[in-house]
Amino acid sequence: MINAIDLMGLKLKNPILTAAGPWAGNAAGIQRCIDAGAAAVITETISLEARPRISPRLHTEDGKLFNTMIYSYMHLEEWEDEIKEIDRKDAKLIFSIWGSTASEIAYIARKVEQMGADAIELSISAPIGSRHRFLTESTSDIFTYSKAAVDAVDIPVMLKLSYEAASSTVFLRDLERAGVKAVSAIDSLKGLSGVDIENFVTLMPTYGGYTGENIRPISLATTAALQQYTSLQVVSSGGVMSHENVLEFIMLGASAVQLASVIQCNGYVAITNILSSLQSWLNERNIISINDIRGAALPSIKVYEDIVPVKLCATINERCSRENCLLCSDSCLPDAILLNEDKIIEIKEEYCDGCGLCVARCPHQLLDLKWCQ
Ligand SMILES: Cc1cc2nc3c(=O)[nH]c(=O)nc-3n(C[C@H](O)[C@H](O)[C@H](O)COP(=O)(O)O)c2cc1C
Repeated sequence: MINAIDLMGLKLKNPILTAAGPWAGNAAGIQRCIDAGAAAVITETISLEARPRISPRLHTEDGKLFNTMIYSYMHLEEWEDEIKEIDRKDAKLIFSIWGSTASEIAYIARKVEQMGADAIELSISAPIGSRHRFLTESTSDIFTYSKAAVDAVDIPVMLKLSYEAASSTVFLRDLERAGVKAVSAIDSLKGLSGVDIENFVTLMPTYGGYTGENIRPISLATTAALQQYTSLQVVSSGGVMSHENVLEFIMLGASAVQLASVIQCNGYVAITNILSSLQSWLNERNIISINDIRGAALPSIKVYEDIVPVKLCATINERCSRENCLLCSDSCLPDAILLNEDKIIEIKEEYCDGCGLCVARCPHQLLDLKWCQ
């Protein structure tokens, strides 16, 4: 069994949370997250502004996921009845909330505490509608808003950060001062799936949240940078699709991770699958506690200026004559890689500047970097 972790003073049976979203938009969805093994389930964002969902609201283009969903379709009062339907077992229930004034946030926070919330996630950063603009334009309000939630309840409060907010040390200081216990990052990025160039219209009717696999590099960098910017616990969100991704975030210092698009696209079984492969990975390496590897990769991130420049050149380990591939030479702007007269890939060291792109692109792993003469 993956051993328990501490998040904001709550004991979680594993580091896998389900993120706020429609998969946890009512009792049935929350129950399925719990039954699939999530240590904690975060509800879809609850506000006083519940509104009907637009259709279509999920868009995808070449494996990228976009959504135009903002709040739960249920009012706070409806949630009160909904929550009673859930068998929580040993999972924690975190309520994602949003209010448009500090007193509204305090009111909703108190209400969800009475409904049995174990913690609150304050969702300030949805890139859909006007919420995002509001808080990125007036960061000074964040102290008032988060303090309103913290002061209203006795349960811990986590704040969900947009990419932009996660990069602001001023913003993070304010959260620490307000008594927030953790931050989750990152929320969806603002995205448009594309433009229909024949008809001069966007493919989506409004800006949406861009999530999934493609945002993971941004989320990984944010998790790592947050370790420097704040002492608050970090719960990573953004492109967690597999157990390997869970480990990546943990090794960059995350206390726990949130699953979102992977549930939306692959169903609730994704939670169970990720948990069981995570367990196998740990067992195979005799790693008893996930806590033992938390932050393990952080020392390998260097300050750019501290990296000593060395001159490396591309080298080919095996004869290659795949003239239909040529991914290596196509991306070699100095023309250091070419197909010679005998139709064999040849590297001209004198032209190679050691950028490494050919090594990364070779689908047959035939290239390497070596010290140059
Ligand atoms: C369909 C959909 C609906 C979402 N709804 C919410 C929401 O109600 N509140 C919220 O804070 N985040 C919401 N999110 C953002 C996710 O919680 C998560 O932070 C984001 O999708 C990044 O994770 P991912 O790349 O693993 O999907 C939603 C995301 C998706 C895909």
